[in-house]
Amino acid sequence: MAGAFEAIRIQTCPRIAIDKHSAVEMKNSKRPARRFVKSLFAALAVLMFATQFAAASIFSKPNRMEWFNQARFGMFIHWGIYSVPAGEYGTNKNYAEWIQLQAKIPGSEYGKFAAQFDPTNFNAKDWVRVAKDAGMKYIVITAKHHDGFCMFDSKLTDYTVVKATPWHHDPLKDLATECKKAGIKFCVYYSDPDWHSPEFPAPYSQHGFHGNPNPNADLEKYVAYMKGQIRELLTGYGPIGIVWFDDGGSFRTTPEVRTNMAKLLHAQEIVDEIHALQPKTLVNNRLGIPADYGTPEQRIPGGRLTNAFEVCMTLNKHWGYNKNDHNWKDSKVVIQNLADIASKGGNYLLNVGPTSQGVFPPEAVRILGEVGDWMKINGESIYGTAASPLNSAPEWGRITQKGSKLYLHVFDWPADGKIILSGIQATVKRAALLADKRRKLQVEQSNPQEIQITAPSAAPDPLDSVIVLDCSGTIEPAEAATD
Ligand code: GLC
Repeated sequence: MAGAFEAIRIQTCPRIAIDKHSAVEMKNSKRPARRFVKSLFAALAVLMFATQFAAASIFSKPNRMEWFNQARFGMFIHWGIYSVPAGEYGTNKNYAEWIQLQAKIPGSEYGKFAAQFDPTNFNAKDWVRVAKDAGMKYIVITAKHHDGFCMFDSKLTDYTVVKATPWHHDPLKDLATECKKAGIKFCVYYSDPDWHSPEFPAPYSQHGFHGNPNPNADLEKYVAYMKGQIRELLTGYGPIGIVWFDDGGSFRTTPEVRTNMAKLLHAQEIVDEIHALQPKTLVNNRLGIPADYGTPEQRIPGGRLTNAFEVCMTLNKHWGYNKNDHNWKDSKVVIQNLADIASKGGNYLLNVGPTSQGVFPPEAVRILGEVGDWMKINGESIYGTAASPLNSAPEWGRITQKGSKLYLHVFDWPADGKIILSGIQATVKRAALLADKRRKLQVEQSNPQEIQITAPSAAPDPLDSVIVLDCSGTIEPAEAATD
């Protein structure tokens, strides 16, 4: 916000000054004419200010959103000392990053995982390469999850990867460096609640849980701690694409607390401070205020949305590493989810939970590699695309759009190879498969709203075959919903 206001000031002032100067030159002319000119200039100045204000506030947000809308695909990484138990505690094998709360582990006990966290196989370059090869354009890593353990070198607590583990290393530094080299946006996840900080009041936490409950905890002091850590993240790691807040079910004790969550957390102040440090950093909507975009979790919206959004989703069933979780989504599901989300105007933030050794599960690497093979051929149907012009999806798959191009993602290939597209007002100049752009496909168009493409009878790509339609004239968008 601060950036937007600054822009207004810089643009407006010199122009008003010129106007004043011109008005002074008119001093000697006759009175009524002078009054008329004066009010004309005043009106003009107000108009110019208002126009520039409107322009600045309209354009400041899309400007920040530009890379996000281009990216469409990112990697979420949930990594912390919870990867040491790898999902198991007592007889239960179904835990991950919520293990401390779910198994009700007191802070003194949970902190022992830090002493066992020594990920000597961690290599930031490898992680970034896996993301990049998959076609992902940004990485969001847990700087601090709900357990309060900091995976970065915070000076504001000793509960950090640098001070409390035998590794004594800041992985976020390496990742930020490698992301920059690879042209990947580096982003940080930061939990609003904290089951470790003595100043986070347990009553605001989900189920009132805290690892070291302190009856004198002071939320104001905790907010100051949050702000300090966010400042550390925004000043020590280069450009930050997103600060990805997460409320983790906290601040829900009463509807009143829920409604006042943003106020309690001084959310707007936090966002303003972020923008004062890095005007282009995006903020998601989990600080209790809408901010830059919405975050549907583990679900894809039913239809097109008008607001920016990012679907976050696990690749198996857990966010953090769980060694018994082999419920992997295959590459077909991932690719079709990605196309589905893009066809609704959103991004896909797909999670990987690394082990306590610092490596990605091999299954995750294999699946992402297959996704990357598809993206190398079909990426243009995803990156920078807009939602489908249709409100509902065609029976054979999904549609994305970029300028005068329509991309038909055919999930269910018709046995006769005839793909029918109806309900879109467009004139097709040329049709081809993205995997074989030079071969023109036959198009029949009895009217601008009924397009029939004849393609080979066997699906060229069992995961998602993409047909690109080059159109002339306007492609009429239908009305979209909001979420
Ligand atoms: C869920 C999980 C949380 C995770 C988040 C990501 O809320 O409980 O641990 O960080 O999803 O969106």
